[in-house]
Amino acid sequence: MEAHEKGFFTEENSVEVVTGRNRNAKSERLKAVMEVITRKLHEAVKEIEPTQDEWFEAILFLTRTGQLSTEWRQEFILLSDVLGVSMLVDAINNRKPSGASESTVLGPFHLADAPELPMGANICLDQKGEDMFIHGRILDTEGKPIAGAVLDVWQANDEGFYDVQQKGLQPDFNLRGVFRTDADGRYWFRAVKPKFYPIPDDGTVGKLLHALGRHPYRPAHLHYILKADGFETLTTHIFDPDDPYINSDAVFGVKESLLAEFKSIDDPARAKGLEFAGPFWEVEHDFVLARDQG
Ligand code: BEZ
Ligand code: FE
Repeated sequence: MEAHEKGFFTEENSVEVVTGRNRNAKSERLKAVMEVITRKLHEAVKEIEPTQDEWFEAILFLTRTGQLSTEWRQEFILLSDVLGVSMLVDAINNRKPSGASESTVLGPFHLADAPELPMGANICLDQKGEDMFIHGRILDTEGKPIAGAVLDVWQANDEGFYDVQQKGLQPDFNLRGVFRTDADGRYWFRAVKPKFYPIPDDGTVGKLLHALGRHPYRPAHLHYILKADGFETLTTHIFDPDDPYINSDAVFGVKESLLAEFKSIDDPARAKGLEFAGPFWEVEHDFVLARDQG
């Protein structure tokens, strides 16, 4: 009898032997997922034909990626981000009705306990960067304003770092705030013009990007989580369309509809009203939330 007839593992029958061994899996979903993963993984290995050294290098890469991950740093999520997997999972899980604002990656720098601020507050606490006034409305897909919607915003400072990356150097909760829309669904606050910055690139993911001839930069953006009763929560960004990295985001988060307009305003009277010393940037951007499905 040949090896494969006895059910022993061979190069040819590798997928069937492994997936057959999973037939008593406790969950049908797990069994189905592992069937696909085994099939695709074996296909990749058969096409790549790694040497033993190459395979061990891959194992060391994954081991190191795990070792770098802590409560504060998640190197595996970063790996998923630069491989385009995070945006793919986001796209599959956020198929929106037409008219609703699109989502993008959450990223690792959100804080759940940022302070709720009065409308108009300046979220920039380190006095660095170019002043910016941001305003707009939160609407439903029929264009009606959503009153009492919660807008949670965060961004990097003028040097390209989030407050949590520079504890002690930046004030706590610098460039973060939670606002609640008024009866007309309006929001407005002050901040500074964001800048492009590199994703953490001193670990395995940074090495991989370097080896692939890729840069680690994300184009300038503000992060938002928008919540309102009866509506789906939206995790998204707005981007500066003139950023040098707008067409090459390291984590593939840019979508056409997330490009905002950053207008340069030189109007001393308006600047004074906003308590800015001189010219400033203005961004007007509406968000549209989809109604809850369930
Ligand atoms: C961010 O925009 O904060 C981010 C997203 C993905 C990976 C790293 C950072
Ligand atoms: Fe970011």
